[in-house]
Amino acid sequence: MKGKSTLSRRDLLKTGAVGGLGLLLGAGGIKGLGMLGESKQTASAAGDSDAVIPFHGAHQAGIVTPMQDFVCMGAFNLTITDIAEVRKLLKAWTVASARLANGESVGEESDNALVPPADTGEVMGLQAMRTTLTFGVGPSFFDSRFGLADKRPSKLVDIPAFKGDELVDEWSRGDLIVQVCANDPQVAFHALRNLARIARGKAVLRWLQQGFQRTGAADASGSTPRNLLGFKDGTVNTNVEDKQAVKDIVWAEAGDGASWMDGGSYMIMRRIRMRIEVWDRTSLGEQEATFGRHRQSGAPLGAAKEHDLADYAKQGKNGKPMIGADSHMAVASMGGKVKIHRRGYSYSNGIDIKTGQLDAGLLFICYNRDPSSQYIPMQAKMSEVDRLNEYIEHVGSGIYAMLPGVNKGGYIGDTLL
Ligand code: HEM
Repeated sequence: MKGKSTLSRRDLLKTGAVGGLGLLLGAGGIKGLGMLGESKQTASAAGDSDAVIPFHGAHQAGIVTPMQDFVCMGAFNLTITDIAEVRKLLKAWTVASARLANGESVGEESDNALVPPADTGEVMGLQAMRTTLTFGVGPSFFDSRFGLADKRPSKLVDIPAFKGDELVDEWSRGDLIVQVCANDPQVAFHALRNLARIARGKAVLRWLQQGFQRTGAADASGSTPRNLLGFKDGTVNTNVEDKQAVKDIVWAEAGDGASWMDGGSYMIMRRIRMRIEVWDRTSLGEQEATFGRHRQSGAPLGAAKEHDLADYAKQGKNGKPMIGADSHMAVASMGGKVKIHRRGYSYSNGIDIKTGQLDAGLLFICYNRDPSSQYIPMQAKMSEVDRLNEYIEHVGSGIYAMLPGVNKGGYIGDTLL
């Protein structure tokens, strides 16, 4: 075809086709522009962000993949009812996703001035930035529209109402969910935007939430990130290198119910707004008692280092346990018997114009194999006794069956459809 170019975003960088920048900057690319001559931290972070995480595999990437710096998560409502059309959409998303994960545009570039470009273009010349795209379906996917009611996995339960919930429907649910993670916010947004564009006429975005943590450039040592309440968050979590732990906690497998979910996982999203202004007026002692950890070091109260084990029996001078039974850590640890895999990000959506207060918090994301025996009992207990409840409000909620991985030649959801 005349004028057709098969240059990928990465090719553009390599050949210097973007105004010669690629030649100037080499592998560091455009991201490196403001960073030339800067610290070792920046250099190592930029090198790492070049990596491509394969889209295909037995499990979807983006679940036990070490966390990228940004997330862009979107839930979609399907506007079609023909299952063949849904299949077509998922096939088109599969092709686009494999390209996006590889640092390519969603379609072939063309210089045909009479049609809109295949790709929206804001990532031209940018690297793959460890992009992962992870897909799932919500309970409503199994309602009467598509004839799939009998395929709904028994583990995909409805999340019960919890004490203190302030959920709004606009921030909840969805037929389809897409979690895009990347080490660059523009690359992550671009991926979701282009999936929404491909879906036009078939599905519409129901809600979209972007999230962040400190970047690799700000902390090349890779220490535990802090949440917006200032505490290290993620200290006790699944060790993704530990295959047995991941198997026990994360992956659905044969015998878990619907066999089409083997190798998938169940994701729970909670949009948790923080009462930041109240927290900022709270004493350090109360803040530390709320989590059961020291703010500076992240160590359990009464211990010295972040990864020291919590000693729930240790008493302070007042004869009371140093880590209160109502502290977030004590409650969430569930006596070590119940575990989930957390993968949340901070979010900040400007201000609540009614009150002038920050609309910010935690986009809580967790993966588990059986929500009824993992996430749900944990959240139920937390909603009753967690001291953190005074400072947070759950405003959005969703549960999704995150599909098994896509093999080469297959498509997203092929085991179900
Ligand atoms: C805005 C809300 C939340 C904040 C700010 C928050 C923050 C924290 C912090 C600072 C820790 C201690 C450090 C660590 O081990 O990572 C922690 C631990 C933990 N959190 Fe949360 N969390 C929130 C919501 C939740 C929710 C909704 C759940 C699950 C239902 C949860 C489950 C856990 C678990 C399982 C641990 C580890 C407990 C342990 O075994 O020590 N958190 N969280």
